[in-house]
Amino acid sequence: MADTAEAILEVRDLHKHYPLTQGVLFKKQVGAVKAVDGVDFDLAAGETLGIVGESGCGKSTVAKMLVNLERPTSGSIRYKGEDITTLSPKALKAVRRNIQMVFQDPYTSLNPRMTVGDIIGEPYEIHPEVAPKGDRRRKVQDLLDVVGLNPEYINRYPHQFSGGQRQRIGIARGLALQPEIIVADEPVSALDVSVQAQVINLMGNLQSEFSLSYVFIAHDLSIVRHISDRVGVMYLGRIVEIGSDAQIYDHPTHPYTQALLSAVPVPDPDARAHRERIILTGDVPSPANIPSGCRFRTRCWKAQERCALEVPLLAVPAVFRLTDSPAKHDSACHFAEEKHVVPAETDEDGPETPPTNGADPFRKPESP
Ligand SMILES: Nc1ncnc2c1ncn2[C@@H]1O[C@H](COP(=O)(O)OP(=O)(O)OP(=O)(O)O)[C@@H](O)[C@H]1O
Ligand code: SF4
Ligand SMILES: [Mg+2]
Repeated sequence: MADTAEAILEVRDLHKHYPLTQGVLFKKQVGAVKAVDGVDFDLAAGETLGIVGESGCGKSTVAKMLVNLERPTSGSIRYKGEDITTLSPKALKAVRRNIQMVFQDPYTSLNPRMTVGDIIGEPYEIHPEVAPKGDRRRKVQDLLDVVGLNPEYINRYPHQFSGGQRQRIGIARGLALQPEIIVADEPVSALDVSVQAQVINLMGNLQSEFSLSYVFIAHDLSIVRHISDRVGVMYLGRIVEIGSDAQIYDHPTHPYTQALLSAVPVPDPDARAHRERIILTGDVPSPANIPSGCRFRTRCWKAQERCALEVPLLAVPAVFRLTDSPAKHDSACHFAEEKHVVPAETDEDGPETPPTNGADPFRKPESP
């Protein structure tokens, strides 16, 4: 989809560095947590871009910058060609209406003292032009209906709903201003497995109905494949591989993607017996102390001298450039090579937690 449709969002060389300071009175900067350290991607109108990566790799920080909850240290975010990181507050307000966020935790992201009607209608206080006061109740009830909740629940409080219903409320609030882009940060991770599919299906239906584009963030590769047209894999603040879902899942070329995929649970015992598990060694480095050259080299089984010296760019690797292979997609590795690690059909697998082992690829990095 991305190849043909126009990009609605273009993210280039995006950075978010949090300063590390020392001293009580005279704070001196002694380093920086490089939470996001050069992220590039496009989002086409109407597509879903999945972003996956283990805990602490910078997914939420990217999401927050897209909706202007965090200001980038450097880089650009172009919405329909206009860099929203440099807009005046007034111009930014108009753009922000079109890029809304759905948060991970439906338990903490809804104010327990507000009714559902007030929660969903709150964005109209800032953008009254979308729904004049006399029209708001009807608009909110329409939104409740759209997300599959009874419009008569408008005066209820969040604690009167289940986790899945609360996430529907969060989605309704995200839709209130009729945005074009929804940034969903782990929208189903806090939900029971049985409810996750319902919320994902709802998001799919809403996308068609309202022509939405999604940036869908998760650490669960099965869920991301289910909803995404394209997938970007993040490691230590950067996207290391990006392509269509088939390219990433069936023809991965970056060793990190291959390791993540090899940890996806496989329900079929025969397929499980034949698949190769790639166990990563070593810890995830701190984002305050990123390795030279390739940031994955301290855990990569293919690392060579060049990997410590030269930063691999996110581009189509030279070996695939003149081919028609599905492996021809962007991958930040000097020695990119195709490796099949997921037996067919595993993407239909339920969203389980990947099995843990001595070097769990999903482990949270240590604090700097
Ligand atoms: N305000 C902050 N100050 C300093 N460091 C921060 C701040 N916010 C995030 N970080 C650090 O930036 C890195 C990226 O954090 P982020 O929350 O974006 O990761 P994530 O990929 O969303 O992780 P998770 O899967 O656990 O949600 C982490 O190392 C985190 O500790
Ligand atoms: S550049 Fe080197 S260290 Fe980095 S992923 Fe490729 S082989 Fe591994
Ligand atoms: Mg996060």
